[in-house]
Amino acid sequence: MTTIILCLLAYLIGAIPTGLWIGKVFYKKDLHEHGSGNTGTTNTFRILGKKAGIIVFIFDLLKGTLATLLPLIFHVHGVSPLIFGLLAVVGHTVSIFDKFKGGKAVATSAGVVLGFNPFFLLYLAVIFFLVLYLFSMISLSSIAGAIAALLGVLIFPHFHFILPNYDPLFSLIIMVLALIIIIRHKSNIQRIKNKEESLVPFGLNLSK
Ligand code: G3P
Repeated sequence: MTTIILCLLAYLIGAIPTGLWIGKVFYKKDLHEHGSGNTGTTNTFRILGKKAGIIVFIFDLLKGTLATLLPLIFHVHGVSPLIFGLLAVVGHTVSIFDKFKGGKAVATSAGVVLGFNPFFLLYLAVIFFLVLYLFSMISLSSIAGAIAALLGVLIFPHFHFILPNYDPLFSLIIMVLALIIIIRHKSNIQRIKNKEESLVPFGLNLSK
């Protein structure tokens, strides 16, 4: 019973539409109607500015981390924390508080990885910022991070010094999260192909 309640709680934590609510309450703006229409960190930065962007990023990240810590907090054993993390990401992307719409899963997935394996997040952050520096595109960096995650779980388990206490479920959940991120970036992929994707004022912008 506790496990089912915690699963529901993990989904509800993830489902909190931070960007949407902050936009509506403090800025009187609906993020769905501006910029990319997404309610995640990037569009919040774009439409509501730096302060709101940072708050939304931290909140969305911590939703994932908190969900992975639920079994520890409530002393529930037998179910991997990753399952709760995955449910938070599902909540974030298909939110009951946002007509089953939601973000593109990047910050909340990063929070799940942070809660379970911070070293792996560091590896993904290096790839993310490297691609961001080269191409000045958040969406491309997010997709590159997701691909790096897929490759990482295929390669790293063979190097025990990098990924000690390896859990095969970690690979599976990371693959699912990476696929969710890539699928959620469908419209971005189309814009990248058409050379219409928005850029950030950072890095070399080799995509010009
Ligand atoms: O995290 C989402 C980001 O990769 C893309 O956001 O608003 O440019 O579609 P956006």
